[in-house]
Amino acid sequence: MKTKIVNYPNLVEAQNRQKSDTQFYHASVSHLKEMEEIGRGKKYYIHTFGCQANIRDEETMRGMLESVNYIKTNNPDEADVIIINTCAVRENAEDKVYGEIGNLKRLRKINKKLVLGICGCMVEQPEILEILQAKFPEVNLYFGTHEINQLLDLIYEVYINDIRLISIKSKQGEVIENEKVVRSNNYKAYVNIIYGCNKFCTYCIVPYTRGKERSRHFSDIMDEVRELKKQGYQEITFLGQNVNAYGKDLDEGHGFADVLEEAAKMGIPRIRFTTSHPWDFSSKMIEIIAKYENIMKCIHLPVQSGSSEVLRLMGRRYTREHYLALVKEMRDKIPGLSLSTDIIVGFPNETEEQFNETLTLVDEVKYESAFTFIYSPRRGTPAAKINDNVSYADKSRRFKELVKHLEVNIEADSKRYIGGTYKVLVDGTSKTDDNMLSGYTESNKLVHFKGDESLIGKIVNVKILESHTYSLIGELADE
Ligand code: 5AD
Ligand code: SF4
Repeated sequence: MKTKIVNYPNLVEAQNRQKSDTQFYHASVSHLKEMEEIGRGKKYYIHTFGCQANIRDEETMRGMLESVNYIKTNNPDEADVIIINTCAVRENAEDKVYGEIGNLKRLRKINKKLVLGICGCMVEQPEILEILQAKFPEVNLYFGTHEINQLLDLIYEVYINDIRLISIKSKQGEVIENEKVVRSNNYKAYVNIIYGCNKFCTYCIVPYTRGKERSRHFSDIMDEVRELKKQGYQEITFLGQNVNAYGKDLDEGHGFADVLEEAAKMGIPRIRFTTSHPWDFSSKMIEIIAKYENIMKCIHLPVQSGSSEVLRLMGRRYTREHYLALVKEMRDKIPGLSLSTDIIVGFPNETEEQFNETLTLVDEVKYESAFTFIYSPRRGTPAAKINDNVSYADKSRRFKELVKHLEVNIEADSKRYIGGTYKVLVDGTSKTDDNMLSGYTESNKLVHFKGDESLIGKIVNVKILESHTYSLIGELADE
């Protein structure tokens, strides 16, 4: 099989951040008619790893595929198009992808016309792309985060010409509007407001894989929110690697606080957002969150470390003191605020004292939830070049210690819910018991309670009877 390389990733180009204006495009497909024929009666399977940005990308890919008649399947064995949507943020995310492709590659032998594609952040790294090609000659399509809008044309070319196609251009990126989308949920929706990241934290690969910070036009975001409201959506989550940077690259005079306020005024019952960098969280944003009842009092505020020196080496642009002052301002102005975070343990040469500073910070802030990670070197990032004197065994021990601290705090905090009645947006039936429903409180706490399936997608009142570390048990308090 011939390999056609349209573009190959390049980390130096991926690092480029020139002041050139972002280009805005409307989605288009060259081979639309032909693809409508090819897609008829065929099925697609997508497996997404990683963050909400990837989940939202899957929804766009689904929209494109279904617009040309492909039907979704959860069984890869019967698929004519398979797409593995990858994450590169840590090594274990990559390992899962290797395992998945290892399982699926046999299908190319059974179905000669199968399009087996890999996309997302992993393939944006040239060295990983080399490994994938060497290990899995069965894969016949590679495309990057900037090529998702070309998916149908890429499939067309692989299908018609029976070639292996690589189309991954490392670039600053553009904004594509009017893409078709099939949302995976009928009452909760993700809304992108800004793509890419300019922060270049020294451990992180994302600014290389997803391009520069580029905001959508304010009016395009609001049109999407208005449409979601019309369709009866109960909850929207604004997405960006750093939502606080919204608008800084545009000349429209709108910042993230304006996005929140305008959306709040439209009356969507629940508004959330993720992720916020502590460095540019403004007082205005805090005031807007406090002011509107339908903006959830829930902030994901990744701290990464409790040591100012480690934060400096991570390139995080804030100190422990700055972070704690921000938390204080938030707690003072937003009653009932629930905070969550991301923490990395074992950054190169992290000392025992520095790690202890993370523990004391965690005890002080009292997060309601946290994502914890052992540092994973990402090739091409500055931190990966540092000689590290901390053993993996030490990192592992620190990781367990951190989780224990977090859990003690979370468990204690969970108890305060007992006896109270909280609004819960019902997600579905519990995985273990069909008679139990599950959903989330405004503060994002998982609640299980007995109830009828007709309540799915509705906001109901639940009285809390019992608390566990990561969930609550309650009973319906509505008539
Ligand atoms: N190693 C470990 N964790 C990482 N994260 C990002 N890069 C790395 C890395 N190289 C974590 C950060 C970030 C979250 C999405 O993933 O905590 O906030
Ligand atoms: Fe990565 Fe830092 Fe950007 Fe978050 S802010 S995506 S951690 S570089």
